[in-house]
Amino acid sequence: MQPILITHIKELINVDETPRAFVAGNEMSKLKTLKDAWLLIEDGRIKDFGTGKPDTRYAIRDTRNEVEGSDSPISYPGSRSSDRGSVRGLTLFDASGRFVFPSFCDSHTHLVYAGSREMEYVDKIKGLSYEEIARRGGGILNSAKLLHETPEEVLVEQALERLDEILKFGTGAVEIKSGYGLSVVDELKMLRVIRKLKELSPLTIVSTFLGAHAVPAEYKGRQTDYVDLVIHEMIPQVAAEELADFIDVFCDKGFFTVEETDRILSAGMKYGLRPKIHANELDYSGGIQVGVKYNALSVDHLEYTGKREISALASSETMPVILPGAAFFLNMPPAPARRMIDAGLPVAFASDFNPGSSPSGNMQLILSMACISYRLLPEEAIHATTLNGAYAMGLSDQLGSIARGKKANLFITRPMPSLGFMPYAYGSNKVERAILNGKMVQW
Ligand code: NIG
Ligand code: FE
Repeated sequence: MQPILITHIKELINVDETPRAFVAGNEMSKLKTLKDAWLLIEDGRIKDFGTGKPDTRYAIRDTRNEVEGSDSPISYPGSRSSDRGSVRGLTLFDASGRFVFPSFCDSHTHLVYAGSREMEYVDKIKGLSYEEIARRGGGILNSAKLLHETPEEVLVEQALERLDEILKFGTGAVEIKSGYGLSVVDELKMLRVIRKLKELSPLTIVSTFLGAHAVPAEYKGRQTDYVDLVIHEMIPQVAAEELADFIDVFCDKGFFTVEETDRILSAGMKYGLRPKIHANELDYSGGIQVGVKYNALSVDHLEYTGKREISALASSETMPVILPGAAFFLNMPPAPARRMIDAGLPVAFASDFNPGSSPSGNMQLILSMACISYRLLPEEAIHATTLNGAYAMGLSDQLGSIARGKKANLFITRPMPSLGFMPYAYGSNKVERAILNGKMVQW
């Protein structure tokens, strides 16, 4: 793999000289950047960066590297031909006028699903609530039925298209949940699809087992039996096949109670599955507290978060994750992200890409929503969608910032006047090209 040297970068964003696991409180507004910068990528990793002219060591080293077959650097639109010819064995990219960001880290999605649910969208417009739609057998159960009928290869194909779409919007790492299976066979089927995606996609993917997403129709009125099925059959089989990195429960009004969540998380812990849970989307459900009790890596949604929840989070290692796509789509009040940051907490923002409450994985839009609807400064929102997102997937030692030795997952923007333009120009794609695992992605 040829090293890549990006030069003349207008601004290199989220530079971390001494890498941190996450950024919290007022540190979130202190985003480190380098103007007129260069960046060297080698062996899939960030090798070095600086300002002004690239370190001459690399040019010398590289000229000596002229070996047969390595003398025709790949050309990319946007790179200058004079530059391309000047150093052999090294792909040069002139990023004049452009910004380089670490890729977005989207820590919460359900992007393996069958088909779509725009009929419910129309019901919602007519006034039905998310819970009413769910009670009528729509919602998650509707997706479960479709998933059951859809062959594994088709699910892989549909998910690959979604992954392709999000990488063009700048995502470089993504978490994907099961939870539309709701039977032993179909939950395993979903997780195998995710495992296949890990093999096929250049994106970094982590998987979460979410058997307790909803109670399937055949267990109606027998919720405890379904929880037993999750605990005694699903979790052991998921663990035996090493199909999940994390475990999730939809701990909320009308779905799973705190007691049920407690039982499921305790069972998951025995198999080394750390929780990342859905909490406090529909009510003050106690989900945040039970998540903290089990040292969850993240608690997600959080529309119903008050003082008690904030203080539980303050003494924890749990990342609060906000999902503005779902709040927008379901017309819910925004989670108090501003209050959380002002209280010294970190926050991450993710897309929640799913067919029912957030059918988009566009992290640039999430960035814009974080600023407009949640009053985060662009610098805070960038931390929330990169490093803090990486933490919420257990990946912040590898991804989420521009740091030497980290995986080279980043994107180059089209020419932009300033950093603030990124969230400001909402709805249009500012990403011109992506580099994943140290390789330019072609599209
Ligand atoms: O994160 N809140 C629970 N689960 C998903 C929605 C899934 C669906 O409606 O299909 C969410 O919003
Ligand atoms: Fe979700």
